[in-house]
Amino acid sequence: MLVDSYGRLATDLRVSLTDRCNLRCTYCMPAEGLDWLPSPTLLTDAEIVRLVRVAVQRLGVTEVRFTGGEPLVRKGLVGIVEQVAALRPRPQISLTSNGIGLARIAVALREAGLDRINVSLDTLDRDRFIELARRDRLDDVIDGLAAAAAAGLTPVKVNAVLMRGINSDEAPALLRWCLERGYQMRFIEQMPLDAQHGWRRDTMVTAAEIFAALEQEFDLEPEGQQVRGSAPAETFLVNGGPGRVGVIASVSRPFCGSCDRVRITADGQVRTCLFAREESDLREPMRAGASDEELAGRWEAAMLTKKPGHGIDDPGFLQPARPMSAIGG
Ligand code: 5AD
Ligand code: SF4
Repeated sequence: MLVDSYGRLATDLRVSLTDRCNLRCTYCMPAEGLDWLPSPTLLTDAEIVRLVRVAVQRLGVTEVRFTGGEPLVRKGLVGIVEQVAALRPRPQISLTSNGIGLARIAVALREAGLDRINVSLDTLDRDRFIELARRDRLDDVIDGLAAAAAAGLTPVKVNAVLMRGINSDEAPALLRWCLERGYQMRFIEQMPLDAQHGWRRDTMVTAAEIFAALEQEFDLEPEGQQVRGSAPAETFLVNGGPGRVGVIASVSRPFCGSCDRVRITADGQVRTCLFAREESDLREPMRAGASDEELAGRWEAAMLTKKPGHGIDDPGFLQPARPMSAIGG
């Protein structure tokens, strides 16, 4: 089992399939992109499936989410999903994507066994999208979302990060748009994970502000707050339902105490937290011939480095050395 020294059990595995991306969201990457991981260090499809198998069969993982960078840019994605769906016990399989290219691949992903998808969409305005993501791809994202819903990758969730002075006035419009289409809108507080280190606590759009803006237009009824558990989103029924909205207050209301996540980077490092300062390598032991049992043992040992919380509000807080795109969302 993946237990840490504070007694938390990790059952939700996030696997980054690549650090590359076809967008350049300002809260994530600089315009010129990053120095991508050298390909020999990237796990192969077979290595990824093996680590997921070890996690599912030996370590109690029940949910697997593929992330990036942008996971759809990885060629072997459909095959990886298919092999993970064939594992017993079969984990729940989801994907976090920017939606570009999803229109073409949604049905294949569904047929391979993908259960659900989260798509990032921070604005509905074309000019703002270009400013935010530095590419003119809003229509591709919208088409991707529609294709995901049509393929049954439901509930389709839409993730938005609000940034002051850029899209911070768009919360009600985004929610309205999602309700009309049956998507679940989720607002995520911006976290200090950008490669450029531009995040500022005092300018971050807080969950409290998001609620205030939404309540101008919608009636929000808290849903099962007492059973928030390890689910980071606080969810609300909108105007009596069935529509819902979630707010993920990672910074202003951290949920580290009930965290059930663990991550594997695209180059095969265990990360116990987005904000971890250390990683534990599984790639080289695996390539040197380690058995499944040995890999499981290393993974369990890595969990003991997990900190009680992200410490964003601590005076000594240091951003992780790697940006979000290299860690996996
Ligand atoms: N803070 C909050 N969310 C972020 N994402 C990417 N960078 C950040 C950040 N600095 C979001 C993406 C995507 C998910 C993986 O995380 O928009 O929806
Ligand atoms: Fe790409 Fe996601 Fe980073 Fe945007 S936030 S640049 S979509 S990895």
